[in-house]
Amino acid sequence: MSASSPTASSPTSSSPTSSTPTLPASVPASGRQVRLAAHPAGLPTPEDFRVELAAVPAARPGQVVVRTRLFALDAAARLFLGGVGLPLPRLALGDVVPGAALGEVVASTDPGFAVGDEVCHQLGWREFAVADAAALRRVDTTVLPSPTAYLAPLLTAWAGLVAVAELRPGDTVFVSGAAGAVGGLAGQIARLRGAGRVIGSAGSPAKVAHLTGTLGFDAAFDYRDGPVLERLRALAPDGIDVYFDTTGGAQLAAAVRLLRPHGRAVLCGLLDRQNGPRRAHASGEETTPDLGYAVTNRLTLRGLRTADFADRRAEAEQEIGRWLAAGRLRLDETVVAGIENAPRAFVDLLRGEFTGRVLVRVDGQPDHKTGLAPLDE
Ligand SMILES: NC(=O)c1ccc[n+]([C@@H]2O[C@H](COP(=O)([O-])OP(=O)(O)OC[C@H]3O[C@@H](n4cnc5c(N)ncnc54)[C@H](OP(=O)(O)O)[C@@H]3O)[C@@H](O)[C@H]2O)c1
Repeated sequence: MSASSPTASSPTSSSPTSSTPTLPASVPASGRQVRLAAHPAGLPTPEDFRVELAAVPAARPGQVVVRTRLFALDAAARLFLGGVGLPLPRLALGDVVPGAALGEVVASTDPGFAVGDEVCHQLGWREFAVADAAALRRVDTTVLPSPTAYLAPLLTAWAGLVAVAELRPGDTVFVSGAAGAVGGLAGQIARLRGAGRVIGSAGSPAKVAHLTGTLGFDAAFDYRDGPVLERLRALAPDGIDVYFDTTGGAQLAAAVRLLRPHGRAVLCGLLDRQNGPRRAHASGEETTPDLGYAVTNRLTLRGLRTADFADRRAEAEQEIGRWLAAGRLRLDETVVAGIENAPRAFVDLLRGEFTGRVLVRVDGQPDHKTGLAPLDE
């Protein structure tokens, strides 16, 4: 990716000299990567990506070679493919799609990492990543008991509720995109942090049942089934205190009308805009919030960028780690087998085919469609 993405060494980034480092025999000469083949207009297609073999560059001093086992598909990646009309860096054609990944060190020139260490990185959809040691995080299961927690958007959900919305005990909280990776965590964290009532929305009856039956939401509705304002008002007749917004559009417009005086909205995501609407809007339904309500009710509508809260990551992970260890918070995960299936799975993710975090298991082991993904079969 351009400007703000983490940098990976490319096969052409170092000129061969007599001191060019070589790879240990245990590391293959090449590995598969998923690169952007075309900038999509609207919903991407699998043909917008290309899976190809690329040489694994040797690690220069201070670098580490990682064999990726799992990487996360992230709806936010759509924002960097272009065509969303926002001031964001755009992935260049041929770039590897970035994102969180988990793997094992297979070669290291840095004293801080040894072969066999389990680490996570942000170098995305590739079988082998060569990273500066500073760009790696060591997986520490004494903090986060499941390694796949390192691939979950923990800080986004936690910071949105705790730091941005300043959630208070007893608050009524509404979360859109609640069956997604961020929303599912936000709803659970709201409950664990003392919310009085947690309401979620998602795009199918099965997902609605999952929210109330598995993730512990008090109530949920299908945002594709009738006007959102009516559905939300029926579940929150006295209004809401906090809205965790992953969608914008009609759900944000409805929430702004129903936020009580001094209510807070966390503007986290743009699913309705980045993917195009997944529903026909009911006649007369608002899709732009009426900010007159923000004035009258002294509302706070605040945008979230996770990176702004990096200094609170340790605090978030300590708290979430305790909940995970106690079995009080669930990592909602779907695992897809095989790096070659990542493009199709990404499109399916954006189309609403999955729940929770979607992880790609690079080596193509069988899918685990529900529950925690076993890493050590
Ligand atoms: N601000 C930040 O720093 C930050 C950080 C991370 C993520 N985000 C954003 O947070 C949002 C959620 O991320 P995520 O990883 O949890 O994604 P996600 O929910 O896993 O995204 C996929 C889901 O989005 C829903 N969806 C797709 N199109 C939609 C539409 N038009 N309207 C409503 N829902 C739609 C679908 O579920 P349904 O079946 O329910 O429709 C789909 O399963 C994304 O917009 C992402 O960019 C922001």
